[in-house]
Amino acid sequence: MIKVKIGAIASGSGSNFEAIVKSTENGILKDKAIVEVLICNKAGAYCMERAKNHNIPSVLIESNKHKGNREEFDAKFIEVLDKYECELIILAGYMRFVSAMFINHFKGNVMNIHPSLLPSFKGMHAHRDVLDYGVKVTGCTVHFVDPHEDHGPIIMQKCVKVYDNDTEDTLGPRVLEWEHKVFPKCIELYCDKRLHIEGRIVKIDGEVKL
Ligand code: GAR
Repeated sequence: MIKVKIGAIASGSGSNFEAIVKSTENGILKDKAIVEVLICNKAGAYCMERAKNHNIPSVLIESNKHKGNREEFDAKFIEVLDKYECELIILAGYMRFVSAMFINHFKGNVMNIHPSLLPSFKGMHAHRDVLDYGVKVTGCTVHFVDPHEDHGPIIMQKCVKVYDNDTEDTLGPRVLEWEHKVFPKCIELYCDKRLHIEGRIVKIDGEVKL
């Protein structure tokens, strides 16, 4: 089987990035996918260390040093991702929008993970918003990316209970544990060509077990 070449983009700690890398090394993505490169937009972000630890090339393209428009910025990413011949792009804690130009360049093969049950609690502070609102169930969502924030066709979601005494520090890690399982699973479904997008509905061949 020819491995799907993945390009990862992250802004922060990179625990999702590392979970995916580990799945390619010794988990469900072994023989199916390979992470070719990590691009990070924040100097000093820990995701770069994680890439180094796994011998994955990493490139820093700092968003706060960039003066041009979004497409010009995204073009720098495309240049790197094309150099590594990436087919599937994963946004693993990337805290910026990507342009329609970027998404089209990769034929829509761009996935994002978000730490809530979309369409609820979009944006940068999902756990805080969940706790402020008082919902009893939250979770995580992996979706294909479209030009709108946290909006594209949903591939998979996992529910996580919210407890009365939860804080961002207790809820966040509990959701993250599931993110680390759900994101590799969605990539596996992609590699196995089991995902079919019809409008904004993603149909999945067969039963999915996490
Ligand atoms: C994850 O919880 C991810 O879902 C979230 O950022 C965190 C990154 O953690 N993404 C977003 O909020 C995107 N809107 P990580 O760097 O340890 O993977």
